[in-house]
Amino acid sequence: MTTATTLSFLHRFEPATAAGPPPLLLLHGTGGDEDDLLPLGRMIAPGSALLSPRGKVLEHGMPRFFRRLAEGVFDEADVVKQANALADFVAEARDAYGLAAPVAVGFSNGANIAAAVLLLRPEALAGAVLIRAMVPLAKPPVADLSGKPVLILSGAADPIIPAENAGRLARQLTEAGAVVGHETLPTGHGLTQADAALAKRFLDGLAA
Ligand code: MLT
Repeated sequence: MTTATTLSFLHRFEPATAAGPPPLLLLHGTGGDEDDLLPLGRMIAPGSALLSPRGKVLEHGMPRFFRRLAEGVFDEADVVKQANALADFVAEARDAYGLAAPVAVGFSNGANIAAAVLLLRPEALAGAVLIRAMVPLAKPPVADLSGKPVLILSGAADPIIPAENAGRLARQLTEAGAVVGHETLPTGHGLTQADAALAKRFLDGLAA
């Protein structure tokens, strides 16, 4: 399989091999690309269609989904612009590939853009798994996320994301009506097997 250049983001697409489970929108972290999270997607949602775009913003050559001014300090105008562009891409891909609304699975910068899409364009996503996410917009618009399932997975020893910040994101999403689970693992910023296991349990619950 090769990277597709047909839609507005470079991406990879793997069609579903089973009927039923929702497609996943896989969103990589800083310096990653469209290949990174495919193995995780296959592991946590066997049979699901996988849609995996590459972030369009380059930071010293490293792909990201929006600009930042410093670690943890975001260019919020760019967050809004890129979240809308990503939501538009999801709509294009749903048309092109005949997909239901996907559940986003984002890691780090990918989790942050997924949170921004939830808050700005809630119709784009059926839910989300946000791994090491933080608040993408200090004052988000009033979104209607009624009933949308969201799992936030934080690291107790994450040097980038203060616990208070991840907690604030959980509150913002809950206040918007999402059904939010927030678990803090005894780990740092990196992705772990425990994240994969918890994400799988959450997605299995959606498919049931
Ligand atoms: C971000 O920039 O989205 C966060 O600081 C996480 C990261 O990508 O390192």
